[in-house]
Amino acid sequence: MEKTVQLYEGKAKKVFATTDPAYYIVDYKDDATAFNGLKKGTIQGKGEINNRVTNHLMGLLEKNGVPTHLVRELSPRETLVKKVAIVPLEVIVRNIAAGSLAKRLGLEEGTKLGRTVLEFCYKNDELGDPMVNDYHILAMGWATEAELKLISDYSLKINQVLSDYLAEAGIELIDFKLEFGKTDDGTIVLADEISPDTCRFWDIKTHEKLDKDRFRRDLGGVEDAYKEILRRLLGE
Ligand code: TMP
Repeated sequence: MEKTVQLYEGKAKKVFATTDPAYYIVDYKDDATAFNGLKKGTIQGKGEINNRVTNHLMGLLEKNGVPTHLVRELSPRETLVKKVAIVPLEVIVRNIAAGSLAKRLGLEEGTKLGRTVLEFCYKNDELGDPMVNDYHILAMGWATEAELKLISDYSLKINQVLSDYLAEAGIELIDFKLEFGKTDDGTIVLADEISPDTCRFWDIKTHEKLDKDRFRRDLGGVEDAYKEILRRLLGE
């Protein structure tokens, strides 16, 4: 399958059409942004790591009954995926209070939540991805009731599968962000990426941050943290 025209360039990935209209190619970049693009930088090697980590975790999810857009890895930075229309929602799954939730509710980062929390944000950079609830989503027609139920059920299942798997690699899954897409026949599948850019990964014993918070908060050791996740998950 060959890349044809570039359809879209996001903050961390480019998406290309291919010679087959049913497939796209995603190409992961080393560019990093935070705070809705206000902070910009480069994380050397991030594109390759995020591509490989995403595909590894999506493969695991497929085996556990969660459909994804993944078709196959083409090169260290490129992956063939099913063409989907992205549902304009970011689904955030939280096990432990951190980041914006800790700030909003005045919780100490690291506080275990009484149960898993799901949040939805409307994907719109100009508006800064505002948080919305089920009523907004249904009123605006971003998803149907059945799609929203499926997206929520998949998100909780993904949390279960990933939390158990990562724990074996000595990683605590604090929170993460998911995006879903719709194939031409209306099937909802997991899309986008699952990587240190989109998850909070803490060392299970030391609570050391092994994710993009090192970049967001200028903690140093950014590249090493991404490499450590690749090493723990893919053994290299
Ligand atoms: P938050 O605490 O800043 O709301 O982030 C929650 C999770 O979502 C965290 O794992 C990082 C991820 N995330 C993204 O992947 N993209 C984003 O634009 C934001 C704001 C968060």
